[in-house]
Amino acid sequence: MKVLANDGVSQSGIDALEAAGFEVLTTTVAQEQLQNYINDNAISVLLVRSATKVRKDIIDNCPSLKIIGRGGVGMDNIDVEYAREKGLHVINTPAASSHSVAELVFGHFYGLARFLHNSNRDMPLEGDSNFKGLKKAYAKGVELKGKTLGVIGFGRIGQATAKIGIGAGMKIVAFDPFIEEANLELDFFDGQKASFNIKTISKEDVLKQADFITLHVPAQKDYVIDKAEFELMKDGVIIANAARGGVVNEIALVKAIESGKVAKAALDVFEKEPQPEVQLLMNPSLSLTPHTGAATNEAQDRIGTELAEQIINILG
Ligand SMILES: NC(=O)c1ccc[n+]([C@@H]2O[C@H](COP(=O)([O-])OP(=O)(O)OC[C@H]3O[C@@H](n4cnc5c(N)ncnc54)[C@H](O)[C@@H]3O)[C@@H](O)[C@H]2O)c1
Repeated sequence: MKVLANDGVSQSGIDALEAAGFEVLTTTVAQEQLQNYINDNAISVLLVRSATKVRKDIIDNCPSLKIIGRGGVGMDNIDVEYAREKGLHVINTPAASSHSVAELVFGHFYGLARFLHNSNRDMPLEGDSNFKGLKKAYAKGVELKGKTLGVIGFGRIGQATAKIGIGAGMKIVAFDPFIEEANLELDFFDGQKASFNIKTISKEDVLKQADFITLHVPAQKDYVIDKAEFELMKDGVIIANAARGGVVNEIALVKAIESGKVAKAALDVFEKEPQPEVQLLMNPSLSLTPHTGAATNEAQDRIGTELAEQIINILG
């Protein structure tokens, strides 16, 4: 049986599928040619990430298709319910990248706490002519240890960030309207384990108590953090959005930075992707990444092998 990985898949995923007798094609077929390609090659499994769209036309007109697989979480590019009604399996790998996103958030937090985002911009330009000036400018760093981490959205990624926060010596407060408590188990290199029970509290209390705030909610109609939420936060708070663009009101964020309410912030996702607002890109209080939260080799490997396992279970 043939698998088309139209947006790519890890070598570990290809190896697992080939070992089970599947043929894996990694050609990237243009959207408008996809239907013909699937039919001409009798593709049984179509794997996508976020680029390829799998809409009703493909589902209706490609009878060889048995599985649509999404490497990652969000399935907005697939007509999931329609595909399932038509008897197709739709699979994804929701947990594979949680730890990668959580580590990126902490990369930003540690960087912001010590001005790395600015220092890395300034050292190439002034590191030789103004070393002492930069040393003074970046002297007032802060530690994460002992601070309070507020997690808004306490699902897979929220809990993964909380675990790193605990390891970093932070106190954890969390809000999630659908989760009352979570048991977080930390595994250490020598086989020891430690578990922490975190009971969620109100959003208002999280916003009031936290020194660092990180968002891990799904995309939704309204902003989760807007002007009113910024007003509740501690002065000098540091916040991160690696969830979805549109979860934080970017205009309100820039205003909160200008007023000093928010000291610094990290954005991995933007209301306008792939062309974020220039006033965000040029803002010296922001640490920025181009939606690379899940982009680690380890996450890609886990995505590939998890998809392969599910495909083998269904069709093997
Ligand atoms: N930056 C990246 O590259 C990247 C990668 C993967 C996922 N994500 C995004 O991360 C987010 C979280 O993913 P996850 O796997 O943890 O999802 P999840 O479903 O496991 O957790 C999301 C949690 O948010 C809670 N929630 C919903 N609305 C809320 C609200 N208004 N306030 C507080 N909590 C709310 C839900 O109850 C749920 O527990 C998603 O938006 C996902 O798209 C980003």
